[in-house]
Amino acid sequence: MKINLVTGACGFVGRNMVKRLYNTTTDHIFMVDDLSIGIHPKEWFTNYHPSNYNGLEVLDPDKRVYFWKGDLRELLFNFRENPRYIQDTYKLDFDKFSDVFHFAAIVGGRMKIDGDPIQVGLDLSIDAELFYWAVRNMPDRLLYPSSSAAYPVDLQTEDTALALKEEYIDFDSLRIGVPDMTYGWSKLTGEFLAKIAAKHYGLKVVCIRPFSGYGEDQDLSYPVPALAARAAAKEDPFVVWGTGKQARDFIHIDDIIDFIFVLMDNVQDGSGWNIGSGKLTSFLEIIDLFSKFAGYKPTIKPLTDKPMGVHSRYADMTKVFSTFDWRPKISLEEGMYRVYKAQLDKLNQNK
Ligand SMILES: NC(=O)c1ccc[n+]([C@@H]2O[C@H](COP(=O)([O-])OP(=O)(O)OC[C@H]3O[C@@H](n4cnc5c(N)ncnc54)[C@H](O)[C@@H]3O)[C@@H](O)[C@H]2O)c1
Repeated sequence: MKINLVTGACGFVGRNMVKRLYNTTTDHIFMVDDLSIGIHPKEWFTNYHPSNYNGLEVLDPDKRVYFWKGDLRELLFNFRENPRYIQDTYKLDFDKFSDVFHFAAIVGGRMKIDGDPIQVGLDLSIDAELFYWAVRNMPDRLLYPSSSAAYPVDLQTEDTALALKEEYIDFDSLRIGVPDMTYGWSKLTGEFLAKIAAKHYGLKVVCIRPFSGYGEDQDLSYPVPALAARAAAKEDPFVVWGTGKQARDFIHIDDIIDFIFVLMDNVQDGSGWNIGSGKLTSFLEIIDLFSKFAGYKPTIKPLTDKPMGVHSRYADMTKVFSTFDWRPKISLEEGMYRVYKAQLDKLNQNK
């Protein structure tokens, strides 16, 4: 059977990937998540009919989706002892994993990135173990989610804001700058491991650098759903972290998932590719959009003691557009409306 591994499967990107794989393929899916941030599948897997298969939780009636709850590193340690740990322990019959989507990470939004950087640094250990396992067990393909946070922060200030090109991270010419906190360092290191894994071990791997991914089911520790929730509640004055003039490149999760498959089908050398819209939008503009949906015009109240990250971060999508002729399908207005509607529905349900 064809079985894919999704780590961090109960997080924002992982949930969306699991749903996409389940709905559009007949593949089996092995989900791993320690639920430190992730949400148990019973809350979001629409065809949830749980059963037990030799100690593994199975989610669906076709018995295609398995959930292993725990720290990914523990599973990887088990693989060190016995590469056929899953087959032997759970009596699952497969040769090796086909696609590996590695979304397990400590992320947590700006508060955690700035507030607990050493915890975020644990991503280094998660990624190191994952790559160590991958080059010894050689899954068919590996997707490594890096981040736009891997780009040098000195290219993202008020004075120097540049559309970020893939070539601004270049291990071959050693052109790399200081990335965003330990989060960016871990992603940069992950990309380096991916390059080495491809070159020295022949692993088929591609890295993505998503910009500000957002979607209807994202946690409220992220700015887009948090702002949508405030607009749905018609908050006035409307609180924004920082001045609100800081700007990002927003990209809907459905577009991210679409492009992941384009990349996995075409790139195997460990290189990193932008996933963004190529447009810079400030948080004030997002608030403007949400308050328009809500039909009111609030006063803005900046909270300058809150972490706000770099001033401007956006993608140069020229390389992606010219190589793959790929464009995001979901406009900012449509995507943001979906998020606003989801928050409004939640608010109405709780009344
Ligand atoms: N969402 C975005 O816009 C975005 C942008 C750039 C990069 N990324 C990258 O994509 C990946 C997924 O991001 P996300 O937004 O889904 O984050 P998330 O926090 O929603 O999901 C991460 C998941 O990993 C799980 N996890 C953490 N440590 C684990 C461990 N040791 N073992 C098992 N599970 C563990 C968490 O419980 C959570 O469910 C991350 O690597 C992130 O850096 C995301």
